[in-house]
Amino acid sequence: DGNVAFDDDFIQPEGRVLYRGSQLWKILVDTEEKAELLAGLRDGEEITMWGGNASTVDILVKPDARDKVRKALDAENIKYDITIDDLQAAIDEENPPLEEEDFDNRNGHRLTWQAYHRLDDLQGYLDFLAETYPDLVKLQTIGNSVNGRPIRLLKISNGQTGNKAIWIDGGIHAREWITPATVTYIINQFISNWENEPKYIQNIDWYFAPLLNPDGYEYTHTVDRLWRKNRRGSGRCAGIDLNRNFGYRWGGSGSSKNPCAETYGGSGAFSEPETAAVQKFISGSSAKWKGYISFHSYGQYILYPWGYNRVVPPDYQDLEAVGQKAAQAIKGAGGPSYTVGPAGNTLYPAAGGSDDWAKGTMKIKYAYTIELRDNGRYGFVLPASYIQPTAKEALAAVKIIAEASYTA
Ligand code: ARG
Ligand code: ZN
Repeated sequence: DGNVAFDDDFIQPEGRVLYRGSQLWKILVDTEEKAELLAGLRDGEEITMWGGNASTVDILVKPDARDKVRKALDAENIKYDITIDDLQAAIDEENPPLEEEDFDNRNGHRLTWQAYHRLDDLQGYLDFLAETYPDLVKLQTIGNSVNGRPIRLLKISNGQTGNKAIWIDGGIHAREWITPATVTYIINQFISNWENEPKYIQNIDWYFAPLLNPDGYEYTHTVDRLWRKNRRGSGRCAGIDLNRNFGYRWGGSGSSKNPCAETYGGSGAFSEPETAAVQKFISGSSAKWKGYISFHSYGQYILYPWGYNRVVPPDYQDLEAVGQKAAQAIKGAGGPSYTVGPAGNTLYPAAGGSDDWAKGTMKIKYAYTIELRDNGRYGFVLPASYIQPTAKEALAAVKIIAEASYTA
């Protein structure tokens, strides 16, 4: 299609964006001046921000900007480490092809949780579940993406009336491949172990949307591994950041008015079919919503509202306490340390996120954004061998949030 005219230097004949020689640097940013210098480099388009926290940020440095960025950092005595030496090599190694024998014993679907799968495998898995477990599982389409791909929602329920409800989504951001893998892993664990799950799992109506941004996801597989937004429009400035497009305090700080920006919030709240589908479904449903979890990556955070600013809701101590318990459960599952806190304070203020809308507009008590692994060693390009440990610890966190939602 005509949508691939992007940064021409990096495009192969078949239209793929290459990151040969691009590097990931972890920079120590412990003063206001250092933060400002980085903001300047960013505005000059020398670097792209990947992630970070109060003291370090990860930046992507393109090969021809390396000298300039290095000089600027050295001049201010800013320390940095090169965490990925060649991003294209990391991308090439992240998702090794599977052998046919990896699919043994799984007639019916192709998901393995040993590799990142394409959209058709993910969809095929959901279809398989709906056909195989018609009493437990219901599958529906809650809308269509900009490019017309269905947005699927899988419900798991024991069918009792009066159950409380929890929503879990992944793949709002296209390049965060670990998140649809994690959501489908959680679904798989629940279904394979359903009879043995505790009451606070069995007596909840679970709503899973493993991949809210299917167009962006496919685009990261076929064209640009590092695409974040949806796929409205074309060219360098295509796309809306779906996690700036939700309708609670839409357009506030941390969301951009510039269509070319990675954090462009769109022309208005819920302007995008991917977010509008979520709004329509949740607000139109009579479920007793108590929990809302959006999976993102990376950074290892359990975040709760508010995200739009450095403020907290009146019941924030409940969210903090459950978040801390979830972080402990992650450790108990053999996982690394996850930082718990309100999103605006802990990361950065960013308005228009799904968590804020869930809590602020839909009044869902336990609303979280969980940023999965890692800490910036691989960032978005997390090797497939990390899927199972990451998803396993995420499941432990979900169970804690379920326990709290059950009695809320
Ligand atoms: N990394 C996520 C983002 O930038 C964090 C979202 C946290 N929630 C929020 N409402 N800002 O979209
Ligand atoms: Zn994200």
